[in-house]
Amino acid sequence: MMIKSTMCYIRSFKNLIMSSTSSLGTPCRATALVAIAALVSLCIMFFWTSPLTKRPPPLPATKQYLERHRTKTTSSPAKEKPVLLLWVWPENYRFDLSDCKTIYNIDGCHLTDDRALYSSSDAVLVYHRAISQDLSTLPPSPRPSFQKWIWLNVESPTNTQKIAGIENLFNLTLSYREDADIPVRLRLTGNKTPNEDFKIPKKDKLVCWIVSNNAAHTGVGKRNAYYNELKKHVNIHLFGKAYGTFLDYKDYYPTIASCKFYLSFENSIHKDYITEKFNGPLSAGTVPVVLGPPRKNYERFAPGDAFIHVDDFPDAKSLAEYLTQLDRDEDAYRRYFNWRRHFSARPHLIVQNQEFVLAICTACDHVARHKEYQEAHDIYEWFFN
Ligand SMILES: *[C@@H]1O[C@H](CO)[C@@H](O)[C@H](O)[C@H]1NC(C)=O
Repeated sequence: MMIKSTMCYIRSFKNLIMSSTSSLGTPCRATALVAIAALVSLCIMFFWTSPLTKRPPPLPATKQYLERHRTKTTSSPAKEKPVLLLWVWPENYRFDLSDCKTIYNIDGCHLTDDRALYSSSDAVLVYHRAISQDLSTLPPSPRPSFQKWIWLNVESPTNTQKIAGIENLFNLTLSYREDADIPVRLRLTGNKTPNEDFKIPKKDKLVCWIVSNNAAHTGVGKRNAYYNELKKHVNIHLFGKAYGTFLDYKDYYPTIASCKFYLSFENSIHKDYITEKFNGPLSAGTVPVVLGPPRKNYERFAPGDAFIHVDDFPDAKSLAEYLTQLDRDEDAYRRYFNWRRHFSARPHLIVQNQEFVLAICTACDHVARHKEYQEAHDIYEWFFN
C-alpha cells in the first residue's frame, strides 16, 4: 500500500511539474496534493529548527591553520629525499648510481638497488622486459600505501612483448613517448646569447651509417629496403656490429663527425620513437637523414632545417641526388647548421652499460618533484594504440 501511494505521488508530482493534463484519477491526485502539502510543511519545520540554519562553527583562523600545516610539512622528514628503488637492473647493465648527479646534475632522490629498502621506498622502478609471464618477478604485494610503481619501457611497441596482468598495476609510465607520465629524451636547449663559434667538423665521407642491430624481428625491414635502394645511387660507409666492423666507443662521435650525412634510420616506425640515432649526428656536427615518424614529429624536437627527412623526396634516388648536390654546394650544406647559433645539442651516453642511465635518472628527478597520488590504467591500450 505504501509503495502504491508513493508511486501515485511520484507520478502525480511529475505531472504537476510538467503541467500536463493528468490521466490519473482524481482520488490519486487528491492524495498527491495532500502528500505534497504535508511534505512542504515538514520541510519548513525541519529547517526552522535544524542546526543547519545556524552558522557553522568558525574555521581555524586561516593564518594559524596554514602555519600549523607548514610546520608539519617542513619539519625534518620533508628534507629527506624520496627513495627510488631500482627493482632490477635493466638488461643487467650496472652503472654507478651517482652518475645521475655527476652526468645530469640530478640529485633529488635517494636512488638505490637495495631491496631491503622496499617497504620504505617511495617509488619502485620496474623494467618491463624483466617481468616474467607468471608475474613472479614483480615486487611483492600489497605495496605500501604511499608507494608508486613505475613502468619502465624505452622500447617501441614493435619490440615490446605484452605480459598479461600488468595493465592496471602501475602508477606511472616511463617511455620515449611524449605523453608518458615520465617522458625520457635528451633535448636541445636554447642559447640566450647566440653561439658564434661553431665550426663544421672536417668531413672526408659523404654518407655514413652505424648499424648494430639487424635482426628482422625488430622491425628493420623498412629501413633495410630504403638503404638497399639508396646505396644504388650514392656511396654509403657502413660501420657497426651488424656489418662486422665493430666501432670502438671512442670512435663513435669522431666517425659520425667525419661524414656530411648520417642515416638516422629507426628500427621501427612509431610516434615519438626518435632515438639517439638522431641525437648522435645533431651533437656531432653532421646532418641527420631521418627515417621514422613523419617530419612534423621530428620538428617537435629539432628545428626543421636541422635534418633531412626521407619523406621529403619521392624516392631514394632523388634523395641521393639531393645529397650529391649538397656535397658540391658548400653554402647550401652550411645552412643545415644555422640552428646551432640558437640551440645546443649534447652527446648522449654510448657505452652499453649506460643505456638506461638517462631513463633512470629522469625517473629520479620526477619522483623528487611529484608527490601526487596517481594511477596509470590500461597501459597497453595507451602504449600499443
Ligand atoms: C598506485 O596505483 C595502484 C594501482 O592502481 C593504487 O592501488 C595505489 O593506490 C596507487 N598509489 C599511489 C600512491 O598513487
